Amino acid sequence: MEKITVLSLFPQMITDALSYGIVKRAKGIISINSHNLRDWGEGTYQKVDDLSVAPGPGMLLKANVVANALKDLIDDEAHVIHMSPRGTPLTSQKALELSQKKHLVIVASRYEGLDQRVIDNYIDEEISIGDYVLSGGELASLVLIDSVLRMTGDILRPDAVEDESFQKGLLEYPHYTKPLEFENKMIPEYLKSGNHKLINETRFIEQLYITWLRRPDLLRDYPLCKVETTHKNPLTKIKKQNDLLKKRLLAFEKVIQEKRDG
Ligand code: ADE
Repeated sequence: MEKITVLSLFPQMITDALSYGIVKRAKGIISINSHNLRDWGEGTYQKVDDLSVAPGPGMLLKANVVANALKDLIDDEAHVIHMSPRGTPLTSQKALELSQKKHLVIVASRYEGLDQRVIDNYIDEEISIGDYVLSGGELASLVLIDSVLRMTGDILRPDAVEDESFQKGLLEYPHYTKPLEFENKMIPEYLKSGNHKLINETRFIEQLYITWLRRPDLLRDYPLCKVETTHKNPLTKIKKQNDLLKKRLLAFEKVIQEKRDG
């Protein structure tokens, strides 16, 4: 990834939001520019929108305004994305794939979106950040940019990227910091053991458990062999030693059973 270009009616939203934390640091490595679509608007009032030709309410961004802007902004390396609730869902895999492109051009539309002919002629893909409709594509663009930047090796430590939720197909295990006791709650026993193998195995069970509770759909694609390898020997030992883990292990065994049953 070398360059990200955003086209929006509110470019300041993009610039401001990218001025914090890891993403701000990324700007030293990757050039991120956001442009105001109104700069390509028509006439004295720099008009950018028009009524939909179909009966009913709704304004669209004008096809020629968006097209003129894109003609100025795209180069041979550009991969052009339109943020839209009817796009393909943004996933960790998609973010990784996009992080390998040299130049991302992101169109954040407003109103009812873009004229289909602009989509057909200029947009490589439409991406959605979820099954809800936002008032504009700017926040969605920011989500996309953040997730893509995190996948760029120069920004996060590669092992941190590896360790992230979804990267391994499961939700994250719980995290704890000092003090060891907080409002009468101790950190779990297994973390006090100092036994790395036990900690890793128990974290894996925690991951399976939370995924089973909240996102059973993710487990459908999770390879059974990975679950079984951990299941084989040490788990029965953990089960005997640790009452707290019993509930988790039951869920874990259910995961294996469901996967075996297909
Ligand atoms: N624009 C409006 N809603 C959106 C969504 N859910 N995803 C991407 N872009 C959008």
